[in-house]
Amino acid sequence: MSKPQKPQKLYVKSYGCQMNVYDSRRMADTLAPLGFVETRSADDADLVILNTCHIREKAAEKVYSELGRIRQLKENGAREHRRVVVAVAGCVAQAEGEEIIRRAPVVDIVVGPQSYHRLPDLLARAAHGRIVDTEFPLDDKFDHLAAPTRAATRARGVAAFVTVQEGCDKFCTFCVVPYTRGSEVSRPVAKIVAEVERLADAGVREITLIGQNVNAYHGEGPDGRAWTLGRLLHRLAELPGVARLRYTTSHPRDMDASLIAAHRDLPALVPHLHLPVQSGSDRILAAMNRRHTRADYLKTIDALRRARPDLAFATDFIVGFPGESEDDFRASLGLVDEVGYASAFSFKYSMRPGTPAADMEQLSEDVKAERLARLQAAINRNEAAFIARCRGLTIDVLFEKPGRLPGQLIGRSPYLQPVQVIAPAELIGHLRQVTITDPGTHSLYGELARETPRVAELAATGG
Ligand code: 5AD
Ligand code: SF4
Repeated sequence: MSKPQKPQKLYVKSYGCQMNVYDSRRMADTLAPLGFVETRSADDADLVILNTCHIREKAAEKVYSELGRIRQLKENGAREHRRVVVAVAGCVAQAEGEEIIRRAPVVDIVVGPQSYHRLPDLLARAAHGRIVDTEFPLDDKFDHLAAPTRAATRARGVAAFVTVQEGCDKFCTFCVVPYTRGSEVSRPVAKIVAEVERLADAGVREITLIGQNVNAYHGEGPDGRAWTLGRLLHRLAELPGVARLRYTTSHPRDMDASLIAAHRDLPALVPHLHLPVQSGSDRILAAMNRRHTRADYLKTIDALRRARPDLAFATDFIVGFPGESEDDFRASLGLVDEVGYASAFSFKYSMRPGTPAADMEQLSEDVKAERLARLQAAINRNEAAFIARCRGLTIDVLFEKPGRLPGQLIGRSPYLQPVQVIAPAELIGHLRQVTITDPGTHSLYGELARETPRVAELAATGG
């Protein structure tokens, strides 16, 4: 496709998970060579992409109502003789396909998560008619998605995501991911190493490896064998400039010995892990097809804490899964205190058409709402206790940007909390030890530490 005469404006709205945030950036990178520049408002955009999520609630309905608003923008554009192209990407695009074109005349392009690299071509074709591309092509989209420039990378900050695997083979009975994102595929080690090297060279210091089931990673290593995530992390920790590593989201079944060892051996691997459990009841875990029991999960947590005593945990819970009794629910409540989570997401079960749990007998909205409120109260209590335990601790902070007050910087703790510190601007992009003086509600406050003692008992006192 030839380069447009003048720059065009691109507006990408991302819904849902970090995979979508990453994909949205890669779409913008791929469109940049065609002259597309990102804008923060849909109002003056020439191309609007909605990168949708289908995991919970009436996701598709939300997209249709957003498209109603966008129709207005398209009409405004037409009055000014400006064509506004509208694309729906992501998991709703994958799940709904042609239906979107039928229901929403405003949409020009429907593109599934595996086809983003074909966007330039789809755009050219959209000049002649509306298009749906929701195949799972055999080629690797990452081979074709353009990399951002060094300046664009740095402008996005000192922390970046890198997708290492996509899709999922677990088939939890509540979840659409195996249907919308397809079966599990891992990127080869060499490609990930090259991407992380490029990010580090541009000044990125913290890398979060992402994937729908990231610890099922089994990409091809340089030796031709499948590497585990633990082995990949060891390799990435050797790269110059990589100060911090994270990975998300994991399945408890895939927490293998090499990954647990990585938590013991790699100082760069942050002592914070999101390990979704979904329920504390064995009966419900079985109905969810989670393939682990409560005891298995606790054993894994225990092994991880032995490997890295200051490891803090986050999780996801679903309440009101079909058949969940009051006793089952209490098992989830009890688990919150037993693990002593630093933070947790909790959701009411939401029926996803086409998944096995959608055909099971459903609980009432009232029961779900009441249980969610009780679970969230327990989670909030644990979060507050965790934050209170931060007082007086010395922790690593990666400085990201200037703070609100003069002379102040904002950084991030290993536990993802923002930390406000009086510190010189040169420290942006650097990791320093900070002593927490005041654990606020949404941010921690601290001062640069003179000494650097490692505090190991933070998370170990949970519950
Ligand atoms: N209903 C409610 N929550 C869900 N999740 C996934 N599918 C559903 C569903 N149908 C939650 C799980 C998962 C997180 C990303 O979203 O807790 O870990
Ligand atoms: Fe969905 Fe995660 Fe279960 Fe895969 S492991 S089916 S992504 S909840």
